[in-house]
Amino acid sequence: MTMVRDMNKRIAVFASGNGSNAENLIKYFKESSHGAEVVLAVCNRPDAPVIEKAKRLGVETCIMTRADINDRDLMLGVLEQHSVDIVVLAGFLLMVPPFLIERYRDRIVNIHPSLLPKYGGKGMYGANVHKAVVEAGETETGITIHFVSENYDEGRIIFQARTAVDPSDTPADVERKIHQLERQHYAQIIRDTLIGL
Ligand code: GRF
Repeated sequence: MTMVRDMNKRIAVFASGNGSNAENLIKYFKESSHGAEVVLAVCNRPDAPVIEKAKRLGVETCIMTRADINDRDLMLGVLEQHSVDIVVLAGFLLMVPPFLIERYRDRIVNIHPSLLPKYGGKGMYGANVHKAVVEAGETETGITIHFVSENYDEGRIIFQARTAVDPSDTPADVERKIHQLERQHYAQIIRDTLIGL
């Protein structure tokens, strides 16, 4: 019997931590009309909560060390084995090796919790970003969804959404607002941009 592959695009999510974005993406793409499914969650930390979240939702997980991820044959082999079409970074804290960017050119995206180019670059991840935004007295911040290129946080911007920062907001308040924007937009933008629906 020959297996006919369905037309769904196959997504691998790369995450390092809590995995709220990964969880949202998995749930969103379980809806068949959304044209894709998350088939693999790659994580570099064996204790990261994202692993349990993915497993609970029936998604295969793969824990890979920094060395594994930088091993071309191993990394591309894992993605090929799962016939991955699209790579989505969701709170992934390691550098993405150039061979991966090259292989998935225009099919690899990231979400950054600020309005790039502001608060991007080295050390600017997670709570560090929100702390810097509050300390600078910004009146607004937001999210940036962008293609991943060889220069970190500098790939072509696909989409930005904004939210107000109130004078009384703490970094934790800002983080909550950012997560809300992420939940609202990330999956939808991936669908519009990469699935072509
Ligand atoms: C998100 O704010 C994302 O924008 C950033 O890291 C955070 C990850 O959160 N890149 P989670 O692990 O998806 O909950």
